[in-house]
Amino acid sequence: MINRKKYCIANFKMNKNREESKEYIQSIHSKFSHDGYLGNGDKIRMIVCPPFHSLDLCQICAVVDDGFYLGAQNVSHFKNGAYTGEISAAMLYDIGSEYVIIGHSERRAYFDESDSLINKKIKISIENCLSPIFCIGETLNQRKNGLIKETLNKQIKFGLSNIKAQNIILAYEPVWAIGTGETATSKIITEAHQMIRNILNDIGFDGQKISILYGGSVNRNNAKELIALDDVDGFLIGGASLDANNFYDIYKFIEESI
Ligand code: PGA
Repeated sequence: MINRKKYCIANFKMNKNREESKEYIQSIHSKFSHDGYLGNGDKIRMIVCPPFHSLDLCQICAVVDDGFYLGAQNVSHFKNGAYTGEISAAMLYDIGSEYVIIGHSERRAYFDESDSLINKKIKISIENCLSPIFCIGETLNQRKNGLIKETLNKQIKFGLSNIKAQNIILAYEPVWAIGTGETATSKIITEAHQMIRNILNDIGFDGQKISILYGGSVNRNNAKELIALDDVDGFLIGGASLDANNFYDIYKFIEESI
């Protein structure tokens, strides 16, 4: 069995002010200290993705704890220049972010992000030393119409077109499970993750080596069961990650599963 790296990722979305983010990070830091955490970044990584305006504050903790990393929730597909309101991959790296979420279903749905735009964002992130957390997943309609494989195939093939780098994390997030309290079943997740590994193999990646996370209503009550699945390498968590205690509990479940 291949030992893929495990991830526990918090996506704050558009929540928390700077003070709240700082308290959150301090709380995580003290939990690590209390547990005598020595750093295990090669096996498991905790990544917190606050809104842009708190990245610098959260960076303090990233420096002290090996195994703790920062991520952004979005990035511009442009390199630099006259693009009002945009934040470049180089700027994210500059502020201490090492990861970036790309292709989240909320960006696809509310900001019209296409597979080709997502592909540009992945490329420019890799060029600037960021590791993309690449989100994919079908809507309820696509599932009902038997279009799961077709959807994942299209999202992955276009999203990763002309990309060779292996420092990519995939997050399978069925849209109908995000923020709804309706978690995908173990069977659905296993089938989708295996499908994703096969698609990755088809386009020249080693699907067995790439970490694939599950996202969609993960919480401390279902995390233990889900992380026990062979093909699940961690979680991308929205709602339940907003509380540091919840998030840390989920992290511990992943750690214990290694
Ligand atoms: P959720 O969100 O955990 O609130 O379902 C997951 C996500 O959007 O990444």
